[in-house]
This record gives sequence, C-alpha cells and structure tokens, in this order.
Amino acid sequence: MKKVTVGIIGGTNGMGRWLADLLTEQGCTVHVTGRKTRMTGVDAARICDVVVVSVPISATAGVIADVGPHVKKGQALMDLTSLKKDPVALMLQHSEAEVVGCHPLFGPSVTEPSGHNIVLCPGRGDVWYTWIKAIFEKTGYTVLERTPGEHDRMMTIVQVLNHLNTIALGMAIAETGTPLSEVNQFSTPIFRAKMDIVKKIFTEAPELYADIIAGNPDTKDVLQTYERVVGKIISLLAGGDGSRLKEAMETAAKKLF
Ligand SMILES: NC(=O)c1ccc[n+]([C@@H]2O[C@H](COP(=O)([O-])OP(=O)(O)OC[C@H]3O[C@@H](n4cnc5c(N)ncnc54)[C@H](OP(=O)(O)O)[C@@H]3O)[C@@H](O)[C@H]2O)c1
Repeated sequence: MKKVTVGIIGGTNGMGRWLADLLTEQGCTVHVTGRKTRMTGVDAARICDVVVVSVPISATAGVIADVGPHVKKGQALMDLTSLKKDPVALMLQHSEAEVVGCHPLFGPSVTEPSGHNIVLCPGRGDVWYTWIKAIFEKTGYTVLERTPGEHDRMMTIVQVLNHLNTIALGMAIAETGTPLSEVNQFSTPIFRAKMDIVKKIFTEAPELYADIIAGNPDTKDVLQTYERVVGKIISLLAGGDGSRLKEAMETAAKKLF
C-alpha cells in the first residue's frame, strides 16, 4: 500500500496531536491544521487520503460542514468527537467520502495503549474503516465497534453521569464557602483522590465536560434519574438514622457488583 496521507484538523493540540503522533509512528504522512496554521482544513481535505476532525465539540459541526464537501469518494472523513450521533450524521450529510466515527476513551496524555479502549462507529464504506481499525489493534488498543446511538447511550453513564456527579461535588463544596485550604487539613485519601478529579474537570477543560453533558441526546433522562436519586437519598435519611440508606445501598450493590 502506498504511504497514506492523513490531515488532522485540530491536530496541533490535544487528541488530534495524539493521533498525529500515533499515525506518524505508523509511517503515515501527517498534516496538522489549527486556526493559525498556514494549511487550512480545506487544503488538507484536497490532498489527504484520510481527513480527521478533532476540534472542540462546539466547533465540530461547522468544521464538518466546511470541510466535508471537499473530501471525495475514495477518501475518508473521520472524527474523534466525544459524542457520535450528530458528528457521524453530519459527516454522512456533508461528504460523499467513506465515513468513520471514532472516540478514544482516554485523554491526550495516554501513550501506553494497553488497557485503553477506542470506539469505532462505521459510517460509510469499509476500506478506510478496516485500515484505521487495524492500526489501533496493531498498536495495542482495544477497539469496540458500536453504532453512534449505542455509543452515546453508554456515554450517558461513563461520561454524563460521572462528570455530572463530579461537577455537583465541586459546586456543592464551593457553595459551603469553606476555603479548600482549610478543608484539605482534614483530608482523607479518598477525598484527595476525588478533589484531584474535581480540579481536573473544573480547571483543565471545563468547556469539554460541559459540552459532553449538554450535547448527549440522552442527557435529559440521566439528569432526571440523578435528581430522582438525590431526592430518594434525602427521603431515606428523613428518619434521622442511616438504616434505610444502608438497605438501599445494599440493594443497589447487588445489581452493580
Ligand atoms: N481531551 C479529551 O480527553 C478527549 C478525549 C476523547 C475525545 N476528545 C474529543 O477530541 C476533540 C478535540 O478535543 P481536545 O480535548 O483535543 O481539544 P483541544 O486540546 O482544545 O484541541 C483542539 C484542537 O482544535 C483546534 N481548533 C480549535 N478550534 C478550531 C476551529 N474552529 N477550527 C480548526 N481547528 C480548531 C486547536 O488548534 P488551535 O487552537 O491552534 O486553533 C487544537 O489543535 C473533541 O471533539 C473532544 O470531544 C477529547
């Protein structure tokens, strides 16, 4: 096979850069674009076999609409977005190329593939889908093949509920008004571990987590479940002792573990 040329829109940073490094190591010629690079996304679409969109969620639809029409039959259009339903539908709508939805279930700092999962959603065609799947598997990642809808539904637990819980914890602690420097003097190992996660979510990329929650088509259901469960916990504690909450936790544990 001739040397594959890949253009990564949003490849100057984050997940795009992660993929650029991986594919360069695999012998591909990789071009990266960002808002300040001389090469634009449309330039990359004109010269690359595979064009990957890896920009912030809020910019993804616009970039796909701009670039998609320039990615033609025989090429592939792929994305790394944390949500899959809308981006895959938009790629199919705006391009006649092969389409691959991809969501690496880890952040850009991961360099050791073992134990890390990547979801692939076949969109259109199988030449480039087979090619990228083989690269991920060869390098040691675990590939899960799912539809965009299946992916987004599972992300309501792994990301929406999970990050919602972290955001609620951080905002509730902030609302108490107690300085964290004081709280930290009383910290336990579990508290420290949780606050490390709160700090990451609140300070490193709050936009990413807000958009992951806001953009999931099933978020409304999960928000209602979360609200219902918090209400249930409050009512279980109304008697003033923990016995009813303990029983509810034991029932949930039987379902979970
Ligand atoms: N971070 C994660 O943990 C993670 C994990 C899995 C999937 N994802 C997904 O990966 C995608 C990128 O997220 P990220 O965290 O890697 O973001 P990021 O670190 O902020 O990087 C975004 C990249 O997009 C470029 N960019 C921003 N706006 C652009 C625009 N309007 N047009 C063209 N390029 C633009 C940026 O370059 P310039 O600033 O130079 O323009 C940069 O290269 C998102 O869809 C996200 O859902 C993220």
